[in-house]
Amino acid sequence: MSWQATILTLFPEMFPGPLGLSLAGRALGGGVWSCQTHDLRQHGLGRHRAVDDTPFGGGAGMVIRADVVDAAVSAIQAPEGAPRVFLTPRGRPLRQQDVSRYAQGPGVVLLCGRFEGVDERVLEARGIEQVSIGDYVLSGGETAALVLLDACVRLLPGVMGSDESGVEESFSDGLLEYPHYTRPASWDGRDVPEVLLSGNHAAIAAWRQKQAEEITRERRPDLWSAWLDRRERNEAAAGRSGQSGRTGV
Ligand code: 6GU
Repeated sequence: MSWQATILTLFPEMFPGPLGLSLAGRALGGGVWSCQTHDLRQHGLGRHRAVDDTPFGGGAGMVIRADVVDAAVSAIQAPEGAPRVFLTPRGRPLRQQDVSRYAQGPGVVLLCGRFEGVDERVLEARGIEQVSIGDYVLSGGETAALVLLDACVRLLPGVMGSDESGVEESFSDGLLEYPHYTRPASWDGRDVPEVLLSGNHAAIAAWRQKQAEEITRERRPDLWSAWLDRRERNEAAAGRSGQSGRTGV
């Protein structure tokens, strides 16, 4: 029983695309996950198999029809309990915790839009979540779906070695990662930070933690204040239970 991605799209040829290569591709070939596309056009109306129409209220662009999406959602065979997700810049932002939840379930159904959007009624009526991968506009949901799937598939059991799966933990603690260095120790007049050559593992861990905090504070004030809040709560909880310092790290 493998993890199942079901994709509703006007461009089925875009899948698995880059996910047919590398780690995800090996896992696809090995049956860890599957990728089934379903062409929305099959459910289009009339001689031209139209899937869209003009927006009520006027305005630019076209809207994908509720009846067309409904017919497609009804026609697919997705696992019981697989979340339905519409990829749209209007969605709530995709986070690692969402990815982790999707990866732990039986799979996902992904609806990829083109044009201005999808009739809101079918999203409500068929329990379709709306998710965005960032604050920029793509020409369609397909590349966003590939991003979401990449993030899920690497978490499936057996896809990554034990080495790499540790990396996941370090983002999950809410800080950006510390910087990395390898040989040569001196390159183009730039030396690797001395502490990394010291063999002092405690000092290295402390330096990396400090770097992670600095970089997060500079680049991602949003993640930084969330992390500070969490630390404060942890310290308060530790205080109440008579411990000192941080817990759970
Ligand atoms: Cl999920 N879809 C589209 N079309 N554009 C986006 C997006 C999704 N996330 C950010 N921009």
